[in-house]
Amino acid sequence: MTNLSLNREALAQFIADEEIFAFQDEIDQCHSKLINKTGKGNDFLGWVDLPDQIDEDLLTSIENDARAIRSKAEVFVVIGIGGSYLGARAVIEALQHPFNALLEDEKSKSPLIVYAGNSISQTYHAQLLDLLDKKEYALAVISKSGTTTEPAVAFRILKNHIEKKYGREEAKSRIIAITDKSRGALKKLSDDEGYKTYVIPDDVGGRFSVLTPVGLLPIAVAGFDIRKLVDGAAAMRRYCLENTLISENYAAMYAAIRNSLYRQGKQVEILVNYEPALQYVTEWWKQLYGESEGKEGEGIFPAGVGFTTDLHSMGQYIQEGQRMLFETVINVGSPLRGLNIPPDPADLDGMNFIAGKSLHEVNQMAALGTSLAHIDGDVPNISINIPRIDETALGELLYFFEFACGLSGYLLGVNPFDQPGVEAYKKNMFALLNKPGYEKESEAIRHRLGQSQY
Ligand code: PA5
Repeated sequence: MTNLSLNREALAQFIADEEIFAFQDEIDQCHSKLINKTGKGNDFLGWVDLPDQIDEDLLTSIENDARAIRSKAEVFVVIGIGGSYLGARAVIEALQHPFNALLEDEKSKSPLIVYAGNSISQTYHAQLLDLLDKKEYALAVISKSGTTTEPAVAFRILKNHIEKKYGREEAKSRIIAITDKSRGALKKLSDDEGYKTYVIPDDVGGRFSVLTPVGLLPIAVAGFDIRKLVDGAAAMRRYCLENTLISENYAAMYAAIRNSLYRQGKQVEILVNYEPALQYVTEWWKQLYGESEGKEGEGIFPAGVGFTTDLHSMGQYIQEGQRMLFETVINVGSPLRGLNIPPDPADLDGMNFIAGKSLHEVNQMAALGTSLAHIDGDVPNISINIPRIDETALGELLYFFEFACGLSGYLLGVNPFDQPGVEAYKKNMFALLNKPGYEKESEAIRHRLGQSQY
């Protein structure tokens, strides 16, 4: 048993249960491909067993490094893009107090976690340097390939900054590299410079790497319990592996439901949350499903909204726009803190009818009311229920989405573990920037641009 559950009551008028359970044979095959490693992309299935294989020495080493960083850094910079930062950010932003930086006293304060190399914005990176000029800091540079442009450029800038600020020797003790065990420019640079390194296993792709040092080190530096996160994922792993029946495996049910809706023409899935802390869980999920399924002209487009905020913006489209949508709502059972709406004798805002109720109860009624309205608007929706936002629940949730993604990608017939389409923009960018080795592409792209209005 896990603490996570899936509620499909709001689906009843869109898909009959028989249609969902008709996926059982396909699910059996996909499940077997995942756990026996016989499907497409089977050399990238290391994540399946990861939660039960993380060894004690690795966890202890990460905790020790995190402690050392926490003792000397006010700011910790995570350099990485895609799967090399989104998992860490999803967990950290879900767990951290949003106003931590101003609330905690100097001694007990966790470092502020900031991100770099997840864009090529000059303004952002220059502004980050303004902060790093003033604060004590350390950094992790994370890249599985070790050759990705965005983190490589950001690291070049920050390496220069940290060496000027602390001197080369002290800078080395403030840099940790997380990369491939033997390949890539980052590995070579780390060996040459003598940085502490952690390895991203060969058989774990970026978007499935949150339970490797890629996610675990930044999460530990932020002050969260990585053992509970791993335990939660391990519990979900056992649940997902043991049960193949759709009726007994929520990951299988989720994969079957979304593929059934896709086959009915619902091409966009919106992940909905009612807790702002989950915004980056949505961003992580978008990458996981978008990069895993969007290929060969197939795939559900993964979108995300935060309610009730976006009910005042995207809500109009979802209620009445093109009918190609379905929603998956992450429903959080208990808030972390109590807060009731106070009575007001004058009642000028007319809100006394909810005085005395908790804000959470009102949020839950907003969620129920929205689900019903969206059913009426022809938007099927399901909810994934987690008891609260803590390390254990997040570990369960992340593994649940990973396993369901593997199943779902196989149901779709694609290789969920590659991302060939990511290369197209890189090829053009390198050609435009005259990267050595791209001479032919440079010439071709200049010819192409010469004939257009660019
Ligand atoms: O999921 C993936 O594999 C990608 O999103 C990568 O994580 C991303 O492109 C970053 O790659 P790398 O870690 O090699 O720098």
